[in-house]
Amino acid sequence: MTFARLAARLLAMLLLLSPVAGPARAADPIVIKFSHIVAPDTPKGMTADKFKQLAEAMTGGRVKVEVYPNSTLYKDGEELAALQRGDVQILAPSISRLALLGAHEFEVFDLPFLFKDYDAVHRVTGGDVGQKLLAGLAPYGLEGIAFLDNGFKDMSANRPLHGPADYRGLKMRIQPSAVLEAEMKALGATPVTLSFSETYKALKAGTVDGTENAPSNLFTQRMHEVQTNLSVTNHGYLGYAVIVNKAFWDKLPPDIRAALEAAMQQATAYGNEIAAKQNLDALEKIRAAGTTVIYQPTPAELEALKTALLPVHKETAGRIGQATIEAVYGAVGFQP
Ligand code: LMR
Repeated sequence: MTFARLAARLLAMLLLLSPVAGPARAADPIVIKFSHIVAPDTPKGMTADKFKQLAEAMTGGRVKVEVYPNSTLYKDGEELAALQRGDVQILAPSISRLALLGAHEFEVFDLPFLFKDYDAVHRVTGGDVGQKLLAGLAPYGLEGIAFLDNGFKDMSANRPLHGPADYRGLKMRIQPSAVLEAEMKALGATPVTLSFSETYKALKAGTVDGTENAPSNLFTQRMHEVQTNLSVTNHGYLGYAVIVNKAFWDKLPPDIRAALEAAMQQATAYGNEIAAKQNLDALEKIRAAGTTVIYQPTPAELEALKTALLPVHKETAGRIGQATIEAVYGAVGFQP
C-alpha cells in the first residue's frame, strides 16, 4: 500500500470514529410551544398558525413553533401555571384571565358596554394604558408581547333573550372574572364559572342554561347546536394578551428574539384584521345551521340591558383599581 493510500485509509477511519470529524450539523432548532384553547379557525387559532409560519421563516428555521389548539395540551385552568413553569413558551389567554394571577386590573376589559367598537379597544391596547398593563406582568414571571382581538360577545340560551328580564333565573356559563360574575348577577342570572372546553357538554347536559361569547367561539365549539336562541347584544369585548415565559424570552439570542417579536407583531396585525369578519361569518354560519334563532335586540332593549349592566362598573371599580378604570375611560371617551 502506498503511503498516500495508507494516509487516506487512516483519515477515513478517523472520520468514522470521531463524532466531530463529520460535516458540521445544523444546531437543533429552538422549540416554542404555543398552546391555546380555541379552534384553529378562530381569530386566535389563525393568529397562532400565522405566527408559526412567520416565525419559522423569519428565523430561517432556527425556531420551530408547535401550535396546540383546542385545549389539547393544557386547559384554560392549567395553561398559566404551565407557562410559569416553562412547560409552554407562548399563550394567548383572554385578557381578563390574567386576573387569576392577581393582576385584577386586566378585568377592566370585561366591563360591559365599555368599548363601542374595535377602534375604541385599540386606543387602549395600542396606547400607554395597554403598555402599562403588559409591563405589570413581570412580577409573575411573564412578559406581555402583544394584544389580539376576538370580538364582541353575544348572549345565548334556550329561550328568547330580548330585555334584561329574560335573563332572570338562568344559569349562565362565564369564564372566570369577578366582572362577568357581577354582570350575570345584575341580570338576575346565576353565573357559573366553567372551563371553556367543558362548556359545550354543560350546555348540552343542561347543567347550565346559557352563555356569552363571541360568535367565532360559539360556532366553532358547536354551542349553537345546543342553544335555541342567540341575542346579538355586543355587550362586552373578548380579546387576548399574548404572553411569554419571561426567563425563556430573556435568554433567547437577541436576533432570534427580535425576529420572533416582529413575527408576532405581523401575526397579531393579521389576526386583528380578520377578527371582525370571522365573527360575522360565524354568525351567518350559525344562522345557516338553522338550530338557533338569532335575535337583534331593538335599540330600546339594548338601552335597557345597558342600564341594567352599568352598575357593574362601580361595583367592581375597587377591585380593578380606579386609576386603571379612569385611564381606560379617558382613552375610549367613555362617560359613566
Ligand atoms: C372563554 O373561556 O370563553 C374564552 O376565554 C375562550 C377564548 O380563549 O376565546
